[in-house]
Amino acid sequence: MAVLVLGGAGYIGSHTVDRLVEKGADVVVVDSLVTGHRAAVSDKAKFYQGDIADQPFMRQVFAENPAIDAVIHFAAFSLVAESMKKPLKYFDNNTAGMINLLEVMNEVGVKRIVFSSTAATYGIPETMPIKETDPQKPINPYGESKLAMEKIMHWTDLANGIKFVALRYFNVAGAKPDGTIGEDHNPETHLLPIVLQVAAGTRDKLQIFGDDYNTPDGTNVRDYVHPFDLADAHILAMNYLREGNESNAFNLGSSTGFSNMEILKAAREVTGKPIPTVMAPRRGGDPDTLIAASDKARKILGWKPEFDDIHKIIKTAWKWHQTHPNGFADR
Ligand code: UFG
Repeated sequence: MAVLVLGGAGYIGSHTVDRLVEKGADVVVVDSLVTGHRAAVSDKAKFYQGDIADQPFMRQVFAENPAIDAVIHFAAFSLVAESMKKPLKYFDNNTAGMINLLEVMNEVGVKRIVFSSTAATYGIPETMPIKETDPQKPINPYGESKLAMEKIMHWTDLANGIKFVALRYFNVAGAKPDGTIGEDHNPETHLLPIVLQVAAGTRDKLQIFGDDYNTPDGTNVRDYVHPFDLADAHILAMNYLREGNESNAFNLGSSTGFSNMEILKAAREVTGKPIPTVMAPRRGGDPDTLIAASDKARKILGWKPEFDDIHKIIKTAWKWHQTHPNGFADR
């Protein structure tokens, strides 16, 4: 029994690989290293550099590792703002990539996939917190590309019996508590790493995109979840499929919302730094509020997130930023 982790050199993928090898799993990683970092991947995993849409390459990976019986798929582009400007990049890499992958999985007879979906598939929710059964009407191409991937998996399950779990994450933040792996995007666009770069002095100021949203303080409200807790959810979902359960979708969030201003305040408290901030215009594609109802994952998968406090999450990220101001280039 081995697990193939696609995108295992990325932010959430590398934390999941770390957790898997810690639990003694046999792990094979594929990553193109377009956005991932080789240094983020545990030495205990077997690593291949390549694109998941490259079918001859993927056939070779499966052929060389016949113990693979499950795939965890993180290999996608995931920037909302970029997707608004370059939709075709997202439909090509994410959605077409999934078609290529499922064709090969079907050929080689690997019938289980755990997939990184997103809160962005819900668009502007009608009720809060968001339940898995709520309408999925994305307002950006990133969310649309992932919703299409969910639908493709659904029909491939019915036709070919490839069972899937779609994990719809909300906002991911934090790093391995020992500070050895963390978030490193280039360019960085996410709120918390930017806030901490300002705290660390590697960036001048934070811009908050929009203070006229329909929220208590006018800034967007998001639900933050730690990559270690996400990693555990992926492992639970893989085991759920290995036990022979049906395809399913789960939200992963803390079920608590924090506005961008509240994140800034918490980061000021954790770091003790002033973090200069200016208000800026709205960024395209941002819904007012996204908060998960995650009781389904807790009940069916037995998921118990450990990082339930935003200060705790920020503390882990701050340790990573302080020890790696240039990300993996400092390792
Ligand atoms: N923001 C700022 N200033 C910045 C960066 C971000 O104000 O410099 C704001 C954004 O406008 C938004 C909030 O901080 O209101 C969070 O933005 P991020 O870019 O950190 O995260 P997103 O909410 O855009 O997206 C993330 C993931 C997506 C996922 C989504 C689900 O990147 O993959 O969460 O909520 F779909």
